[in-house]
Amino acid sequence: MARQVKSKQRVADHGEVFTAEREVEAMCDLVKQETERIDSRFLEPACGDGNFLSVILKRKLTVVTKKYRRSAYDWERNSLLALGSMYGVDIMLDNVLACQERLFEIWNKEYKKVCKKECNDETREAARFILRLNIVCGNALTLMCCDAEGKELNVPIIFSEWTFPFNDARMQRKDYTFAELLAMDEPKPAKKKKNADADFVQGTLFDMGLDEPEQPDDEGKFLQQYIAHYRHIQDDDTRWREAYLHLHLTKEENDNG
Ligand SMILES: C[S@@+](CC[C@H](N)C(=O)[O-])C[C@H]1O[C@@H](n2cnc3c(N)ncnc32)[C@H](O)[C@@H]1O
Repeated sequence: MARQVKSKQRVADHGEVFTAEREVEAMCDLVKQETERIDSRFLEPACGDGNFLSVILKRKLTVVTKKYRRSAYDWERNSLLALGSMYGVDIMLDNVLACQERLFEIWNKEYKKVCKKECNDETREAARFILRLNIVCGNALTLMCCDAEGKELNVPIIFSEWTFPFNDARMQRKDYTFAELLAMDEPKPAKKKKNADADFVQGTLFDMGLDEPEQPDDEGKFLQQYIAHYRHIQDDDTRWREAYLHLHLTKEENDNG
């Protein structure tokens, strides 16, 4: 069984106690249908090394393989869509990197099993890129990015929505601030139910009328969009470089010092 505690210090500093696999599976079963929907979005806001995200990704990839194992093109597109629907935030950089790597290994193992000789490194790079953007080092309470010491940066957490809007090889990325997504998810009083379920509101990342044309917005809602062949979605890494510049400098300084 995987360890639930890495050190007493980490428990004291960050409440880091990992959930056992049995509980994760049981909790995921409460929304089983959603965990088996390829593009259903999940956010683990204090993700650690991704105990929930990894179970959900495995379930989604099982569905992708069942439906698309005969075509490497279809498997690649749909598995990237599944990866793009996994979001995580953790305040500790080692957890973030471990979570990215863990999800990549789950995806890559299935990729090799299904696509065999058709596997290619461009799609692998696309998968890694999606994970770098979706699994973020940040403070889920203040919604700001953090550096390698967990210190807050003056950079808001940004999440990308990944879709295939034209039903071909072109993948679209749209960036939104996390703060704005959460604000849009708040229940509107007039719509609140009067029964016992009234306090439970299911989150709907990106459910904001995306069929309507949108323009980038100065106030931080929708920031930018980018469209490319899914194997080249990593070619525009400006956002990644901007958001992580400070983080990686700090990490390098740490490693050297
Ligand atoms: C109880 S563990 C849960 C990890 C994982 N979700 C699980 O269930 O196994 C809590 C995690 O939250 C992270 N954490 C603590 N405070 C946080 C904050 N303000 N923002 C983001 N992550 C935070 C810790 O680093 C730790 O990995």
